Amino acid sequence: MKYRNLGKCGAKVSVISLGSWLTIGGTVDNKRSGNLIKLGFEKGINFFDTADVYNYGMAEITLGKSLKDFRRQDLFIASKCFGKMSDEPNDKGLSRKHIFESVHKSLKNLKTDYIDLYQCHRYDPDTTLEETCRAFNTMIEQGKILYWGVSEWSKDEIKNALEICEKYNLHKPVSNQPQYSLFSRDIESNGVQDICRENGIGLVVWSPLAQGVLTGKYNKKKIENDSRLKDKKNNTFVKNFVNDENLNKVGELIKLSEKTGISVSNLALAWCLRDETVSSAITSATKESQLKENIKASETELTEEILTEIEKIFKSVK
Ligand SMILES: NC(=O)c1ccc[n+]([C@@H]2O[C@H](COP(=O)([O-])OP(=O)(O)OC[C@H]3O[C@@H](n4cnc5c(N)ncnc54)[C@H](OP(=O)(O)O)[C@@H]3O)[C@@H](O)[C@H]2O)c1
Repeated sequence: MKYRNLGKCGAKVSVISLGSWLTIGGTVDNKRSGNLIKLGFEKGINFFDTADVYNYGMAEITLGKSLKDFRRQDLFIASKCFGKMSDEPNDKGLSRKHIFESVHKSLKNLKTDYIDLYQCHRYDPDTTLEETCRAFNTMIEQGKILYWGVSEWSKDEIKNALEICEKYNLHKPVSNQPQYSLFSRDIESNGVQDICRENGIGLVVWSPLAQGVLTGKYNKKKIENDSRLKDKKNNTFVKNFVNDENLNKVGELIKLSEKTGISVSNLALAWCLRDETVSSAITSATKESQLKENIKASETELTEEILTEIEKIFKSVK
């Protein structure tokens, strides 16, 4: 496993990380979740991503049960808040009140004394940015979290947060979690990647395999019944990626995989990691074989020639 600094922080995260949206504490049963976490850790994953809202706490709880078997200092645990947790008016968003309560709940769920990275799952237009920045600063000063980050914030939202933190001498956000894959490249053109690069904010990118589509599994004649696409409850997002145009591109990627001997998923993940502003690609897995395969991308170097081939295939994707 390779490790990169999280942006300009001193802390290092594994370039392949393991997330828990839908899977851990959700579609994957407890025993298999535990096995996946153990396998990931043994193969060098130190960065585990979750959120309060993933299965309403069950992802955090399941992760916490397994992670307590490892030395705390060997782990980099990340969670998030913002999403609506109940019908109570304050049980959502980025108010000082909700951040304070969410951090405490996550600490309890994760069975840990501190969380390495706590992230704003989305931007909250109902709370002033100054309140949010000050609340995260307090959480850091109290030792409850070590760093704070954002997810799916625009360039201007990130810029404004940095300016407020600079003005009041508060801890700045150190990471941003956007969607990024060969099919989702908005951050390259909307200024988000640039502002992160300029300010040493580490990108920890989600759905780097486009929810499985960039493994080539949906180009097969028979689609496995236990795949996300066949899961009627959870296939809303993956369905958006499965269309003829995208599958044709993946078909070309499969040919490139055959030519280079690098698996399709490794091409897709190593492509995300080609730029050092990406500190980690946050993957998910439902099977140990998938995780083993994805971890190999850590060691995969893509030559200029391969990168050019990939660019040609996906050139019409913005
Ligand atoms: N910040 C945010 O708003 C946000 C949003 C979404 C996700 N996230 C984070 O990002 C993480 C990753 O998101 P994601 O689950 O969409 O990521 P992904 O890695 O793009 O897709 C993961 C899914 O693809 C399939 N898969 C993975 N590796 C495979 C392989 N080698 N061969 C065949 N199939 C494979 C598995 O699904 P099946 O086996 O079920 O087909 C797996 O659960 C989440 O767990 C979460 O921590 C954050």
